[in-house]
Amino acid sequence: MSLPRWAIVGTGGISRTVVGDLHLAENVELVAVASRTAEAAEQFATAHEVPRWHGSYEALFADEDVDVVYIGTPIGTHLEVASAALLAGKHVLLEKAFATTADEARELAALAAERGRFLMEAMWMRFNPTIRRLLDEVRGGAIGEVRTVQASFGFPPPPDAIHWRRDLGGGALLDMGVYPLTFAQLLLGEPSSIEATGELREDGLDLTASVHLRYGDGRFASLLTSLRGFISPAGSVGGTDGLISVGPLFLAAESFTVVRPPSGEPRTVAESREGRGYVPMFRAVGQAVADGLLEHPDRPLRDTIAVLEVVDEVRRQLSSS
Ligand SMILES: NC(=O)c1ccc[n+]([C@@H]2O[C@H](COP(=O)([O-])OP(=O)(O)OC[C@H]3O[C@@H](n4cnc5c(N)ncnc54)[C@H](OP(=O)(O)O)[C@@H]3O)[C@@H](O)[C@H]2O)c1
Repeated sequence: MSLPRWAIVGTGGISRTVVGDLHLAENVELVAVASRTAEAAEQFATAHEVPRWHGSYEALFADEDVDVVYIGTPIGTHLEVASAALLAGKHVLLEKAFATTADEARELAALAAERGRFLMEAMWMRFNPTIRRLLDEVRGGAIGEVRTVQASFGFPPPPDAIHWRRDLGGGALLDMGVYPLTFAQLLLGEPSSIEATGELREDGLDLTASVHLRYGDGRFASLLTSLRGFISPAGSVGGTDGLISVGPLFLAAESFTVVRPPSGEPRTVAESREGRGYVPMFRAVGQAVADGLLEHPDRPLRDTIAVLEVVDEVRRQLSSS
């Protein structure tokens, strides 16, 4: 069977970061790129050895020789751009954060199901081999029962970055907070209660958030995000029998350490990274599409929607405090 043919939508920062990894995934055939301008599309295609380019997203979606689109546009455009792709019959891998609200995410999920097309949030952390190993170790009882998760991610983006644009789906929670929230979800599931504090800009854009999630029986996650300054991008998972520390950047980790008393000797587990770290996700999506799946079992849409429900509630609490 021939490989699914892929195209990139948008020629900004993330598309430049991941294009090499699309070339590296052996089951992906990257055939085209689209930009809102012909000039940027041609430039990107030339610079990154993409065979064809389109000067509008519509033109790409009308290209019958494209099966899967990777969408790397601002979060506030995801609903419109991904809907257009699905309506044109494309399978879609959509950058995080998947949408600006859980309602938008549900709308996209319903459309993909109705059109019979694959749809997934590009939550590359879930496919990182080190994170996979961590989940395996935890499930295998390496630290006993999981009691706590701590994770944080934040940095001050440049003044012209989309993070600051409320109309484009900016804010700390959607752009950065989804990683700590997803990490907690992978380890503890869905919270039974949510408490948040933080700072909103005058127009309502969330600048910082400190989120405390409870899971019953005293288990909890403590998560931080910020656009105002740097926060340690580390994560940890505490259990009844030991502790796992993952960093320095937990979401793109290449190793973690397990400490288990009484010896207390740290055991380091490491997995090598392919390319910039996105290859395993592209490979997994390529396989899922080739297999005729509409969702990937490791990042089902219900999990993406559940994280956005937490984001919705955190923003509600920040705006009402
Ligand atoms: N997975 C990761 O590691 C990672 C890292 C960074 C960002 N992201 C995610 O990737 C997405 C894009 O972020 P980015 O940092 O790549 O942003 P960016 O550098 O600003 O690029 C976004 C691109 O989207 C296109 N676009 C479409 N409509 C637009 C609009 N109304 N305004 C501005 N640009 C528009 C533009 O491409 P054309 O002009 O070519 O159409 C633009 O270059 C976001 O969802 C972000 O959260 C993921």
